[in-house]
Amino acid sequence: MALTHRQLRERFSKFLVSHGHAEVPPISLVPQNDPTTLFTGSGMQQFVPYLLGQKHPQGTRLFNIQHCIRVQDIEEVGDNRHDTLFEMMGNWSLGDYFKKEQLQNFFTFLTDKKIGLGLDPKKLFVTVFEGNEQAPRDTTSIEVWTEIFKRVGISSEIGERIFLYPAEKNWWSRAGEPKNMPAGEPGGPDSEVFYLFDVEHDPAFGKECHPNCDCGRFMEIGNSVFMQYKKLDDGSFENLPKMNVDFGGGLERLLAAANNDPDIFHADINSHIVNGVETATNHEYEDPSNQKAMRIIADHLKTATFIIKDGITPSNKEQGYVLRRLLRRALVKIRALNNSFSAEAVAPIVEQVVQTYNGIYFDAKVDTAKIIPVIQDEISKFQKTLDRGLRELEKLDEINGTIAFDLYQTYGFPFEITQEIMSEKGIKLSKEEYDNAVKTHQAKSRSSADHKFKGGLADQSNQTVKYHTATHLLHQALFDVIGDSVRQEGSNITADRLRFDFYCDNQPTDEDIEKVEKIMNEKISQEIPVNMKVMDKKEAETIGARSFFKEKYPDEVKIYFIGKDKEDVKSAYSKEFCGGPHVENTKEIGEIQIKRFKKIGSNMFRIYAK
Ligand code: SER
Repeated sequence: MALTHRQLRERFSKFLVSHGHAEVPPISLVPQNDPTTLFTGSGMQQFVPYLLGQKHPQGTRLFNIQHCIRVQDIEEVGDNRHDTLFEMMGNWSLGDYFKKEQLQNFFTFLTDKKIGLGLDPKKLFVTVFEGNEQAPRDTTSIEVWTEIFKRVGISSEIGERIFLYPAEKNWWSRAGEPKNMPAGEPGGPDSEVFYLFDVEHDPAFGKECHPNCDCGRFMEIGNSVFMQYKKLDDGSFENLPKMNVDFGGGLERLLAAANNDPDIFHADINSHIVNGVETATNHEYEDPSNQKAMRIIADHLKTATFIIKDGITPSNKEQGYVLRRLLRRALVKIRALNNSFSAEAVAPIVEQVVQTYNGIYFDAKVDTAKIIPVIQDEISKFQKTLDRGLRELEKLDEINGTIAFDLYQTYGFPFEITQEIMSEKGIKLSKEEYDNAVKTHQAKSRSSADHKFKGGLADQSNQTVKYHTATHLLHQALFDVIGDSVRQEGSNITADRLRFDFYCDNQPTDEDIEKVEKIMNEKISQEIPVNMKVMDKKEAETIGARSFFKEKYPDEVKIYFIGKDKEDVKSAYSKEFCGGPHVENTKEIGEIQIKRFKKIGSNMFRIYAK
């Protein structure tokens, strides 16, 4: 019997709990108050302050299963192992255990038949950082792996079982290898484990196969990052206050290894969704000529379903644009397989996504009905112009940025789709040309989102920190003026402004909003200290600390409070569940103006302030 994704989750949790780790809930896919990244892209995202030295309320051994989106992988989707949405199973040691215990534990989890996955150790291969002028070769990991393999009777020669690679492959930080890391960023050498599948090497990918070869014979199933360095302004590294471990293994890939099947779309985490795609397109997945398109459809609609669940709707900006691009690309692929497809037929695919993750990320009863119309609406809008646009594209034997931008405006073809269709005809279109055309049309909003596809860097710049504290004042001031029906629906901060979405029973008047602004500025001029206290979740709720209903919180939480008395959270003006960072005193915020107030849905409102 194949291992199911639910069984894998349970085994991972049990294993880590038995090794003294506390479970931390995943954060939302759309990071709150982080202007530099569109989506949560790794399990460690919420742990950055703790890797840098802060104390975590739940201790020094932590784990979680975090859903992540890596839009930069979108072009890779279509093979047997890439996806835009995946889950990272992770564990962290915050200055607790280090290399020896981490590598041994992960090996035990992979190979133990009772408490782990029972993989054959002969099928496991590992990689280690070879060293450079900034950081030495990771000889400890080489020794630890040699010992581990020796114990199970496997010889571990370098170049046969243990492979050394440069920083490009065996260094991890949110920005990638050392040269790309900004000052202040944590990172370190890593050691990856690869699983060998019983498939032939494809010489198209190089003469010899090795763990990092892209032919698909080896699959990376886990990465132990030894987070021990912080980059300095002069480009060198210093040691972090503590030597940490940041481990992440892709759930879909671990499942593939456990089932010894290199196609992540065969495991139950994808197979039902693929069945939905078969129904919608009337094509068989097992026919190899359909697989690429069907994987893209399954992946993109899955990711879209998750993005919508986290509160985003299709638009021309930021997360909304990614969502639009995923849905439109999925439709182009669906139509290539079945040109009589109608938008209603997308429902079985979305239903399968929600069912697959029911009780984990979705509540099937509520979410299916909410999400399907959003997808159908976007798809049917695009479908109206799709055929005409495709005919236009078909006729073109050259393209430039302006034509591509026209195709977007007239037919709704995202640049990337035009680029993909043209490249199938062997015609190149550069992003630069397109961006220039967009600039000329003074539609810059969309290109700014693009920089963020790459990164995952938390912007801790002074201005965003100020806006973050201002958001807490705004939240409380709304309660003061409008009353208890106020509920935060989301917030977003850039270096230029803060945005706050909320629900309330009655439409606030202009006077209400003026009052809110006035209260915020009063609190700023009263120079009130901002402090943080770690508390029991129940206690925090009892004293009325505001939480964000879309977020799940652990039993111990950080409460930021704005109040004259630094010790007394209860009497503070504002108290909120929050990870920080914040200014130390409200006076640092400076004057705040509410620039715009608008209705964005029934009983839903949005405020922009700066
Ligand atoms: N942060 C590392 C990664 O994302 C390990 O968790 O691969």
